[in-house]
Amino acid sequence: MYLEHFGLRELPFQLTPNTAFRYAVQNQHEALNVLLVALRSGEGFVKIIGEVGTGKTLLCRTLLNNLGDDFVTAYIPDPCLSPMGVRLALADELGLTFDSGAGEHQLMKRISERLAELKRQGKKVVLILDEAQALPRESLESMRLLTNLETETSKLLQVVLFGQPELDEILGEPDLRQTRQRITFSHRLSSMDRETVEGYVSYRLTLAGYKGGDLFTPRALNYLAHASRGIPRLVNILSHKSLMAAYGRGDHIIGRKHIRSAAADTEDTQGWRRPSGRKPATSFSGIRGVLSRALGGIGTTQRWDETH
Ligand SMILES: Nc1ncnc2c1ncn2[C@@H]1O[C@H](COP(=O)(O)OP(=O)(O)OP(=O)(O)O)[C@@H](O)[C@H]1O
Ligand SMILES: [Mg+2]
Repeated sequence: MYLEHFGLRELPFQLTPNTAFRYAVQNQHEALNVLLVALRSGEGFVKIIGEVGTGKTLLCRTLLNNLGDDFVTAYIPDPCLSPMGVRLALADELGLTFDSGAGEHQLMKRISERLAELKRQGKKVVLILDEAQALPRESLESMRLLTNLETETSKLLQVVLFGQPELDEILGEPDLRQTRQRITFSHRLSSMDRETVEGYVSYRLTLAGYKGGDLFTPRALNYLAHASRGIPRLVNILSHKSLMAAYGRGDHIIGRKHIRSAAADTEDTQGWRRPSGRKPATSFSGIRGVLSRALGGIGTTQRWDETH
């Protein structure tokens, strides 16, 4: 791989939402503040919406790391749960065990007893769901019913939903209006602008051990921000592929051409359109071609045309 070529200790643009690589993106930071304020107030039923790849799961993990000892969290990453599945998962996260024959009534009774016990210990319990847009309607509704568990003065359970924009459409349906009305705080994650993309790329490179000067040219960063639409996952994919392309060609600086070839090789990016009627400049067929030639030592001369 390209680690040695660029003087890196580890891969800078891996796709796993790793909180150690988290860059302080303003909008995500605001979302975290909304979450912390809402949950500390004790009345939280919070919704965080973000397009695919904008950092919801990373934010979810950051939240889990930021809630202090006075919080007990039940994290459900698997959204395909029936209402009973949600209750069982919650019970499991609360450390409750059941006989296989336990009925629903007994399950709810044990959950509410456990929540009341945690409340007496001064704990706030938060149920966190990632990918909530994939949750069956009845399971979303069951969240609301769970938040009905309360003492005379406060809720026993708070809920955080992380979901793609479809979640808003689902919550907009008439049969879910009661659930929608319960939502006390919400926040929408936005994509990154050009300056943030630059800071993001440079931060991740530094964390991965890069010590040199500017690795990406300003034009490369312009193109990267444009092609990725500022979506962190796409920024990672394009940056990784452009490093591969540069490595394959023996280049030490990432220019626009490297980003462009990465974008041509990546789904869901924008800005790559070959003018109609014109043939590709060479037999180049994406990064894999560059790399296989470099690694296989075939030595084809590659022409990169900056004009299209
Ligand atoms: N602030 C950030 N700092 C560093 N990396 C980030 C940041 N935000 C997002 N990423 C990275 O972007 C990628 C996508 O993030 P994540 O998986 O959290 O998105 P998502 O919104 O949950 O996507 P999906 O809708 O597909 O579930 C991950 O590699 C993640 O580490
Ligand atoms: Mg996710």
